[in-house]
Amino acid sequence: MAHTIVLTNQKGGVGKTTTSAAIAAGLARKGYKVLAVDMDPQGNLGFSLGVDIDKGASIYEGLKGDATVYEIIRRISDIDIIQSNILLSSAEATLKGENRDLLLKNLLAPVEKLYDYIIIDTPPAFNILTLNGYSAADYLIIPMSAEILSLVGLVQLKETYETVRQSVNPQLKIMGIILTKYEKRRKLSRDVLEMAGTVAEQLNTKVFKTVVRSSVAAAEAPAHGVNIFEYSAKSAPAKDYGAIVKEILRIVEEDETNGKKDE
Ligand SMILES: Nc1ncnc2c1ncn2[C@@H]1O[C@H](COP(=O)(O)OP(=O)(O)OP(=O)(O)O)[C@@H](O)[C@H]1O
Ligand SMILES: [Mg+2]
Repeated sequence: MAHTIVLTNQKGGVGKTTTSAAIAAGLARKGYKVLAVDMDPQGNLGFSLGVDIDKGASIYEGLKGDATVYEIIRRISDIDIIQSNILLSSAEATLKGENRDLLLKNLLAPVEKLYDYIIIDTPPAFNILTLNGYSAADYLIIPMSAEILSLVGLVQLKETYETVRQSVNPQLKIMGIILTKYEKRRKLSRDVLEMAGTVAEQLNTKVFKTVVRSSVAAAEAPAHGVNIFEYSAKSAPAKDYGAIVKEILRIVEEDETNGKKDE
């Protein structure tokens, strides 16, 4: 059964999509079977991995029940991907019914056994799309940008996390906070790292040991439609995301040993 990881932060531009793409690609490079799912109407995850997001079926058709999960999965090199586009922005109004927060979980259920990891990118908002992500996840990872000293949305994130745990998904766990766009010479970066430690304590989680350094390579790769490892394997973010993938594998392995999931 796949381990499902959702990248979340209500604050925009903190590195959710960059981190989703890098983790998906990093796990695939290690030979794991990976499905990347874009739950953001901006469609950046698919775009950054080289998908023409305006063509073909998207997550929206899947959530609405107009297409099966098999019909919306596309293969890009060694990653399978379910893309999104702007049409998904009408989800709040059109996705209806009692189980509207479980649509993603139910959609993915038939393919869960085909993958080792499912990586889900979410929009910078708390809406039905984010809620579907939380309901489908085993783990949340919270990227925080070292460029912005901001706690926007973190209280709401904690509340949503607790609500989801108490209702549809008691297994949900916060894997940790990943600091992105880190510049060690900047005081601001060091301040944000310290703040991330405090936030992690409040959320009962930790900050990943590896911080992702700032580099233009991370910003350039998406425009070329290739992941950071293909674009510049020697860049700081490629090395850092490589180390983060190892941290993730270790955490998941530890949880399995401790019997978090019986598989
Ligand atoms: N390590 C890094 N070094 C330099 N730039 C980065 C790094 N990580 C991300 N960026 C850049 O920061 C910007 C925001 O990143 P990204 O799109 O991943 O954030 P996001 O949280 O997904 O944004 P949104 O909330 O809009 O979905 C992008 O232009 C991206 O290229
Ligand atoms: Mg994004």
